[in-house]
Amino acid sequence: MSEHNSPSSGVGERATTVAHNARVWNYWLGGKNYYPVDKEIGDHVLSMFPTIVEAARADRAFLRRAVTHLTETAGIRQFLDIGTGLPTVDNTHEVAQRIAPESRIVYVDNDPTVLVHARALLTGSPEGATDYIDADAHEPEAIVQGAARTLDFDRPVAVMMLGILNFVLDTDTAKGIVRRIMDAVPSGSYLVLTHPTLEIGGEGGAAMMRFWNENAKPPITGRDSAQIADFFEGLQMLEPGIVPCSQWRPEQPADVSEREVAEFGVVGRKP
Ligand SMILES: C[S@@+](CC[C@H](N)C(=O)[O-])C[C@H]1O[C@@H](n2cnc3c(N)ncnc32)[C@H](O)[C@@H]1O
Repeated sequence: MSEHNSPSSGVGERATTVAHNARVWNYWLGGKNYYPVDKEIGDHVLSMFPTIVEAARADRAFLRRAVTHLTETAGIRQFLDIGTGLPTVDNTHEVAQRIAPESRIVYVDNDPTVLVHARALLTGSPEGATDYIDADAHEPEAIVQGAARTLDFDRPVAVMMLGILNFVLDTDTAKGIVRRIMDAVPSGSYLVLTHPTLEIGGEGGAAMMRFWNENAKPPITGRDSAQIADFFEGLQMLEPGIVPCSQWRPEQPADVSEREVAEFGVVGRKP
């Protein structure tokens, strides 16, 4: 570990020899919490699909814009962020509590490295609250139950699923997870989603995902806009609908590139 920090001392031996998404994502975002194997796989993916870093950064910029909109304009004060990733710049609680310090945020991830670093996510404002749940997205019951310690499910919640449903390979299972969680939150709640797609970015995307699935964890899938629309069944999609996340309400002057990336960004409201 010469050029970066050790991600943790609490992660098992096997985890350090196989690239994991949370750490590779952190590497692409310019973070320091990755192992040599994560850099090696991350660089290979980058050589196959050069816009991946742009997509990762556009995803985080989308998070900031979406959370800002929900806090500032929609009056949301509760966030359930599933598939949080390693702490980075502008985590959900930082964006929300900058605007409304009383905001309450529950983070969920199942990666051991994220668990070790979770305390960096628990540094919220004294007026608000943050919590971390070590849970798998395939277990929505456990997530809802755990989140109820911190969130009031009688008041609107923004459910953030950024770059996570792509790790639930079966589309019906993914839809079931979204439905279970959105059923638990009241009218006026939101679903915030980013998801990689093979509809954008040409042929390289499919080969890149094949390479990932043969060499890293967990396995990933892309989805097209019709499948993404299905996740929003019964919800009112906010303008501009299903677009590359870099093009969801970009700021003027743009702080990041608005170039099309192979990652959709969508926000919907539960009526
Ligand atoms: C692409 S990163 C996205 C991180 C963050 N949401 C963002 O948009 O920057 C995906 C995250 O989902 C987590 N993840 C993958 N599969 C998961 C599962 N089955 N349950 C919970 N978290 C999962 C990974 O550990 C990783 O931290």
